[in-house]
Formats: sequence, structure tokens, C-alpha cells
Amino acid sequence: MTTAEIKEMATKYIMNTYGDRKLALVRGEGPYVWDAEGKKHLDFLGGIAVNGLGHCHPKVVEAIQKQAEKLMHVSNLYYIEPQAKLAKLMIDNGELDQCFFCNSGAEANEAAIKIARKYAADNGKSNAYEIITMDNSFHGRTMATITATGQTKYHKGFEPMLPGFNYVPFDDLDAVTQAITTQTCAILVEPIQSEGGVNVPSVGYLEGLRKICDQHNLLLIFDEVQTSPGRLGAFFGHQTYGVVPDVLTMAKFLGGGAPIGAMLAKKEVAESFVPGTHAATFGGNPLVTAAALATLETIIEEDLFANAISVGNYLAEKFMHLQKLVPLQEVRGRGLLQGVVFDIDAKSIATKCIENGLITICTNDYVLRFMPPLNITKDHVDEAYDIVEKSIAEVT
Ligand SMILES: Cc1ncc(COP(=O)(O)O)c(C=O)c1O
Repeated sequence: MTTAEIKEMATKYIMNTYGDRKLALVRGEGPYVWDAEGKKHLDFLGGIAVNGLGHCHPKVVEAIQKQAEKLMHVSNLYYIEPQAKLAKLMIDNGELDQCFFCNSGAEANEAAIKIARKYAADNGKSNAYEIITMDNSFHGRTMATITATGQTKYHKGFEPMLPGFNYVPFDDLDAVTQAITTQTCAILVEPIQSEGGVNVPSVGYLEGLRKICDQHNLLLIFDEVQTSPGRLGAFFGHQTYGVVPDVLTMAKFLGGGAPIGAMLAKKEVAESFVPGTHAATFGGNPLVTAAALATLETIIEEDLFANAISVGNYLAEKFMHLQKLVPLQEVRGRGLLQGVVFDIDAKSIATKCIENGLITICTNDYVLRFMPPLNITKDHVDEAYDIVEKSIAEVT
């Protein structure tokens, strides 16, 4: 089918939640995707932080093929070998003790919100159901997670929001302290706000949140849906900050393209989830956990942590050269989560980049966001840079 044919069919039969989509993508290999007309595109958005090993990585493809031939789905009423192995691998590489599997980032955050409330109730604080979250945050699209998301544009038309969420400015410890009440049970934060504009916290902010949580007996929840695994240069993003949360959520790149989410917690918190308290039919099924296991093993074997740091630093330096063309504030981020912050509206630049063969996204109007696969090289960065340079010249 041609792009026009796919578009016509999709427009007729699929609800219009994504607006006009620029491309119909039909094939992928490494950091490249091809559209229905056979045009090649460099994918620096990576399925919005999902394709961290690039497209169709042979080890992930092989794991899915083998598992599909053996056992695709059984319910969580039975033990599942790749699920158990995946949980062990994640726990062995971090500081948390147990995990719960689901299908997406929003579901992982739902699980985190539920366990925070349940843990408080189990510990004699049944009225402590409030969670402090940050302005400009993004936590998902279910009712609880849009409520947790500190951006009113996501709330409009869906009111009333769920009770129990208080918003404070990101990177402001005093505001957090002032927002704590006897009803507070947790603080939920992204170590770097990605969707909100690639906002990197000041040195000491995450440590400060940890201290506040310890002083007030609150759970610290990190939404690492975009920052783990590997993207910031360590297995878990928080490890690059040296701050350990009580609860952590991940999804996106975890399955290397297969839909899976996870919520990890320290043992004493994990114990609040007992039979009957939470579940997901597909959560961690054999197919997706086999894919995730292959994904994580590959990141570790190929030491993509080091690559994320070195290529990420190169990208940040390289894109500062755009200053010679347009007013630029900074390039900010960590590892391979980077945002080029313009002084001019970046939406038209992003659109032009897509026309010119570079898949990227504009966030917060001024920020061109990159979340490429962790195994890209400096040559790929140069290729992306040339396309951005050309696109800026065309739009300005
Ligand atoms: C930080 C963060 N949390 C949660 C989500 C929601 O993830 P999903 O779309 O898989 O539900 C996203 C999605 O972009 C995200 O960036």
C-alpha cells in the first residue's frame, strides 16, 4: 500500500488521537526506517524512546521468534520462565528488590500510585493518599496518570481529576517541603523531565528529595519510563545521580519494541502487593519478557551504557554548532536523552527535519528532542546534524 492509501484507511477507521501523521513506516533496521514509498529515514526519536537497540535488532528478533514457536501467552496464574529471569536480571542490576510486570508506562505508574497508597494504609496511615508531583511532568494517559501529570492541557475535558495529587515546580525543594501534609504518602518525579522539555534538575535536587522523603517518611518514586534502561549511561537512570528511590517505573525501551512495563520496589514496599491487590492479564507474558530479556542482555553485553555517554556527549557538543545559524540557548540532557533548546519556535524545524529524512520531535515549542538508539555512532550524529542544519536553512 502507498502512504496515501494507508492514510486514507487509517483516517476513516482509527480515532484521530494522533492528528495528521507525517509518514507511513513499513520497515526498520538499526537506526533507520523506510516509509511506504521506500524512502530511508534516520530515526532519532526511536519510537519515542522505545527502539533503544535500533529497529529489529537480530537478538531481539531471534528471542521473539523462538519464544513465539514455544509459548506466546499463559496467564499470571502460572510461573513463567523468561518473566522470572527478566525480574532477576533487573533486580541484580539495581538496588530494588522485587518487580511487578504490566504493559506500558502509564500502567507502571498506576501500579506505583496504587502501591504507595496501599503501603501507607498498611502502615497505619490510611488517610495518607496524596502524592506530590511536578509541574511539567508527564506520567501517562490513564485517569490516575493524567492527574499525576502536572500539565493542565492533559486534564481539559476529563475533569474531575482523581483526588490526591499536589503539584509543585520541578527542581524546587522548598516547594516540595511546603506541599507536604499529614495526608502525603509519596513524591513522584522523573529524574529528567523528557516530555516537559528535557528539563535536567540542578545538582543536589534528587538527593534533596531523598532526604525529604526520609525525614517525612514518604516514598520516593522515580518515573524512569524514559530514563531506563541505559539511556542516561547506567542500567537505571537514577544510578547516574547516585540516588536510590523506593519505587521505580519503567517501560518504553525495556522490551526493545515489545510492549512491556514494570514497577520495581524495595522489599518492604513490595510486600504491600498481596494476592488480589493488583494484576495485568498480559503483564510480563512469555513473548514480551523473552524480548525484554534479550534487550537487556544485549545492552549489558555490548556495554551500551558507555556508548550512550560518549555519543551523547558528542551529540551535545556537536549540536551547539547550530549557534552559527540560529539563536540557541543550550543543548541539555544526559546520555542519549538530549534536547536542543532554541530561542525560536522549533516546531517548523522538526517538521522540516522529518521531510528531510530525520525523525525527531519538538517538545515544549522550543526544544528539539533526541532519543536515538543507544548503539548509534558519531557518524549517525553527524548525519542527523547535517539534516538539522539543512532544515534550519530551509525554514529560516
Ligand atoms: C516519563 C513518562 N512516564 C510515563 C509515560 C507513559 O508511557 P506509556 O505511553 O507507555 O503509557 C511516558 C510516555 O511518554 C513518559 O514519558
